[in-house]
Amino acid sequence: MGSAKTGRARKLSVAITGPTGAIGLALVDLLEKTPEVARIVGMARSPFDGSARGWRKTEYLQGDVTDPDDVRRLVEGTDVVVHLAFIIIGDIAESRSVNLQGSRNVFETALESSSVKRLVYTSSVAAYGFHSDNPTPLTEEVAPRGTDRFYYSAQKAELEAALARLMSGRDRPDVYVFRPCIVAGPEALLLIENLAPFRPGTRLPEPLAGMLRSVPFAKPILPDPGVRLQVVHQADVASALAAAVLGRGRPGVYNLAASGELTMTDIADELGWYSVPLPGVAVEVAAELVAQVPYLPSGARWIDALRVPVIMSSDKARAELDWRPRYDAMETLRETIAAAFGRGEL
Ligand SMILES: NC(=O)c1ccc[n+]([C@@H]2O[C@H](COP(=O)([O-])OP(=O)(O)OC[C@H]3O[C@@H](n4cnc5c(N)ncnc54)[C@H](OP(=O)(O)O)[C@@H]3O)[C@@H](O)[C@H]2O)c1
Repeated sequence: MGSAKTGRARKLSVAITGPTGAIGLALVDLLEKTPEVARIVGMARSPFDGSARGWRKTEYLQGDVTDPDDVRRLVEGTDVVVHLAFIIIGDIAESRSVNLQGSRNVFETALESSSVKRLVYTSSVAAYGFHSDNPTPLTEEVAPRGTDRFYYSAQKAELEAALARLMSGRDRPDVYVFRPCIVAGPEALLLIENLAPFRPGTRLPEPLAGMLRSVPFAKPILPDPGVRLQVVHQADVASALAAAVLGRGRPGVYNLAASGELTMTDIADELGWYSVPLPGVAVEVAAELVAQVPYLPSGARWIDALRVPVIMSSDKARAELDWRPRYDAMETLRETIAAAFGRGEL
């Protein structure tokens, strides 16, 4: 990276949207310790004190990616832009504004800037969509089709297409797009939070509720449709993104998943919960219902992810970026559950 010609590489200034999220915290922690990075400027909406976390190179701006002026303020004079700000689970109208308009603001500002040489964007495994004809494993050559009724998935596919259109005919900045699977870890508890519908007292759609009622146990019960899941540790996502920040490997699309796969029974076992096998047809029916039930939080739409296996190969990241994830799937799950217990989330 930088100038072999001058013998000394200029240190990088890195702009990050969403530095206070699950991936952002791990990425900033890592870049703080990366000698090639001189300055980090992060932006999210809530007040946040990075110095309380020991951040020394990082300046925090309170701002919103839906406001083009805020985005310009963030990106101005930086060498690399990392776009993480997103609404993963939430109100659909807010998600459209933040995810679609906010991301376009970030992409366009990075592309128009004369200083930005790299744009790093975290898409998701969800961009592929949850289709029964998906190949296993999914490689980066497979076109992201999204799943229309799962807005997060549809938006991720739409944004990858929008970014490709914006980049068409351009040779800079270099663009790295990452497609992580479920991100977990001590500060990434989404996986655990998504199990909330299975706690006692939550209304589930039939026939799921009926099936689970028929099992007379006091502990929560997770349905297991037998579909395998991938997870990746937040620190390992950070190390892949940091490689892109430094311009390692070739720009392009990279899947990110830890080695090993999990089932809902593995998750139930680690939680000390019960699991019951759920026939595929019940998952289909439940997914249809969940898609239509307005009172269920959008998080319950996770069930779409359990209809078909969506398993990715991360060989490209390992080969191109020399990505060496430190945690396998089971280690990631155990750390996440331990943190969730520690924080009283379970
Ligand atoms: N977590 C996963 O399992 C996973 C898996 C695959 C891909 N990804 C992708 O990776 C990226 C980062 O995910 P994450 O898990 O770190 O998300 P996260 O934990 O939900 O954090 C989201 C971050 O974005 C900020 N943000 C949200 N709306 C914003 C806005 N309008 N303007 C500025 N900042 C805003 C949030 O802070 P404020 O709310 O304070 O603004 C927070 O810092 C997302 O694109 C996500 O889709 C995540």
